[in-house]
Amino acid sequence: MTDTDIKKGLAGVVADVTAVSKVNPETNSLLYRGYPVQQLAATQSFEAVAYLLWHGDLPTEEQLAAQTADGKPWRPLAPEVKAAIDAIPLDAHPMDEVRTAVSVIGALDLAGESNVLAAVGTPEENQARSLHLFAALPAIVAYGQRRRRGLEEIPFRDDLGYAANFLWMTFGEEPDPVVVDAFNRSMILYAEHSFNASTFTARVITSTLSDLYSAVVGAIGALKGPLHGGANEAVMHIFDEIGSAENVVPWLDAALGEKRKIMGFGHRVYKRGDSRVPTMKAALDTLVEHYDRPDVAALYDALETEFVTRKGIYPNLDYPSGPAYNLIGFDTLTFTPLFVAARVVGWTAHIMEQMAANALIRPLSAYNGPDERHVEGYVADEAALEATMRPEESVA
Ligand code: COA
Repeated sequence: MTDTDIKKGLAGVVADVTAVSKVNPETNSLLYRGYPVQQLAATQSFEAVAYLLWHGDLPTEEQLAAQTADGKPWRPLAPEVKAAIDAIPLDAHPMDEVRTAVSVIGALDLAGESNVLAAVGTPEENQARSLHLFAALPAIVAYGQRRRRGLEEIPFRDDLGYAANFLWMTFGEEPDPVVVDAFNRSMILYAEHSFNASTFTARVITSTLSDLYSAVVGAIGALKGPLHGGANEAVMHIFDEIGSAENVVPWLDAALGEKRKIMGFGHRVYKRGDSRVPTMKAALDTLVEHYDRPDVAALYDALETEFVTRKGIYPNLDYPSGPAYNLIGFDTLTFTPLFVAARVVGWTAHIMEQMAANALIRPLSAYNGPDERHVEGYVADEAALEATMRPEESVA
């Protein structure tokens, strides 16, 4: 095997088929089950898109109502989950909170199931588990932000849709329709993106016949990193550092001089612009107008123009979503947990797809460590070694 056979970072490797979504960098498009994502963002609720990603088609009104009713028991913050979150230090990263909360939900749901094979569950059980996490995450994320601000939990509102209720539980105020719409669009855009690092992590874990909750916990760990989901948080740190549009040029001179990566720009698959950005940028524009914050738009435009001119690398979804979440009032630390609440739909759709046509994901590696050597004083029993050799070479 030569170095050219090795696809570092699995770049360009097609690892499996999927019917969940299609990313096409040539046409700069993203399809969820065949639908362009910008059409879904303009016309659908996040819960309808969740139904689409799980079941393959958009729901009828009855199907959507049934999904909402089935998810209702999971919307309040379970006392055990709240206790687990409260046990985590206030200065821990909220992604650690969310990861722990999902782990606790899984442990509670699978309690009594000592047979690991049975814990894999039936397709119906896994659909119910997916809905459980989808319905439970808003309360977990909202409570996380409130507890860091020294505030009490706010119970969910049955009369509000997913996005409006999420905002209600976070801020305790009737959300404005403009804000609900922008937030709903962001959730749809974040919901799914083929074999990204966290989804692939979920599929790897699933491929060992582990359970759905374990796969989601692993995916949350992968999403935390700033090269992936953590970028939306990192974008806001950059905006805070720069301060205002006039500072962009000197800030960028210094940052590029230090060979820093500018978070929110670049993508492994899209090299000519991220298909989700125009939709999210339009949502950001509505928020800029709603909150009367032209300074945010000015900084956004200045950094984009300057960075694209210098490097030819375009913004990804995290670039507009970071300042959008900031305007809505989310703490910077809450941004990546919001991504979890959205992407849990894509993860679970992929987990169920992997389960339905499973093959253990186990690549090979090319060894580049020291040549074989021996522990001093050890006398090899050549005969015993010979006896263990099977006729065919096998790699475990
Ligand atoms: N800022 C500065 N330089 C960047 C960059 C960025 N955001 N993104 C890519 N580059 C540069 C790299 O330094 C590298 O330059 P080099 O060839 O001179 O070493 C080149 O572009 C290729 O980048 P690389 O990181 O190897 O490409 P990739 O396909 O592995 O990376 C990302 C994709 C997303 C990891 C990368 O663009 C990145 O780190 N972006 C910032 C984090 C981010 O926003 N992540 C969210 C993704 S949705």
